[in-house]
Formats: sequence, structure tokens, C-alpha cells
Amino acid sequence: MNEVLQNILSRRSYRSFEERPIAKEDLDLILQAAIYAPSGMNRQSWQFTVLQTPAQIETLAAAMRPVLQNDGYNFYRPAVLILASNECGNSNGLADCACALQNIFLEAEALGIGSCWINQLKDCCDDPAVREVLTRLGVPENHIVYGSAALGYPTQKVEAKPRRQGTIVFAKD
Ligand SMILES: Cc1cc2nc3c(=O)[nH]c(=O)nc-3n(C[C@H](O)[C@H](O)[C@H](O)COP(=O)(O)O)c2cc1C
Repeated sequence: MNEVLQNILSRRSYRSFEERPIAKEDLDLILQAAIYAPSGMNRQSWQFTVLQTPAQIETLAAAMRPVLQNDGYNFYRPAVLILASNECGNSNGLADCACALQNIFLEAEALGIGSCWINQLKDCCDDPAVREVLTRLGVPENHIVYGSAALGYPTQKVEAKPRRQGTIVFAKD
């Protein structure tokens, strides 16, 4: 099996991470994978805002907890959280961010780093208290945070989840 497919088949979502930081060289590779994703009309209007300290991640989670009515919300306490955002007027904004997030997940997998898509900011990034923190962290005011990547060394390695069969259909003549 080729390395790309092997990587795709072995990736999975992790939701428990060690405190161990991610080396700068590895983070740089992950971010390079992100910006080499395809984007509609090659706009590349996305931004990847990198939160690298527990304090930054906790400040954002704390602003979101009341909005989500979830006292335990913490992004799974990753070593790094990457916010993938895009201009609110770009109709390809979500699709472009999704392509970049998958690149992030696959490069992380190649480096032995666990990852998980975190979705909640998409629906609450315009809450005033959340937006205030996002602005402080460097997310442009006209950006929607379409998804986030929680990254860290998994506390336990697990096998990829099996896939549902029958979702591939070859069209008949
Ligand atoms: C658009 C999208 C949103 C997701 N949101 C979350 C989320 O908010 N929290 C979470 O724990 N996992 C989230 N996931 C991860 C999925 O639950 C996970 O990919 C799915 O269960 C398949 O498992 P696997 O990634 O291990 O193959 C999301 C995945 C996608 C693609």
C-alpha cells in the first residue's frame, strides 16, 4: 500500500492528550500542510491562528462555556489548538478550511501526533464574549472560525475506526 493511503487509513480522532508540547519543527510542517490545501479560486483567504499555551486555550474555552452551557468544555486540553477561519463573505470558506484541516490531520498522523476536529466555534464565534477573546488572539473580525484542530500526543494509541460499507456506488449505464 502506498504511504498516502496508509496514512489516510490509520488516522483517527483523539480526544485525550499528553501535556508534552509539540516541537516547533513539527508544528511548522503541520502548518505548511495546511496552507498547501486547495482553495476555491485559489483565494487562500483563510487564516490559521495557532494557540500554543494552556492559558490561551483555556481563556477561549472559558468564554465559550456559558454560551455552550457546558461547564466541562475544554477542547480536550490539547497541546496546540489551530483555529481555521475564513472571510464570512467567501462562499467556499468552510470547504477551504475543511481541506486544510484534513491536511493538518494527515500531517499530524505522519508525525505521530493525534488530532481531532473541534466544531463548536462555527456557531458561537460571533457571540460577543467569544469574539472578544478571538480578536485578542488575532482572529480577524470578519472571519468565521469554521473548525479547529486539537493536536497533541495521544495518551493512548488506538486503531482507526472501521468504515460503513456501501457508501461507494459506481454509476450504471
Ligand atoms: C465536520 C466535523 C466536525 C466534527 N466535530 C467534532 C467535535 O466537535 N468534537 C469531536 O470530538 N469530534 C468531532 N469530529 C470528529 C468526528 O467525530 C470523527 O471524525 C468521526 O467520529 C470519525 O472518527 P475518526 O476521525 O476517528 O475516523 C468532527 C469531524 C468533522 C469532520
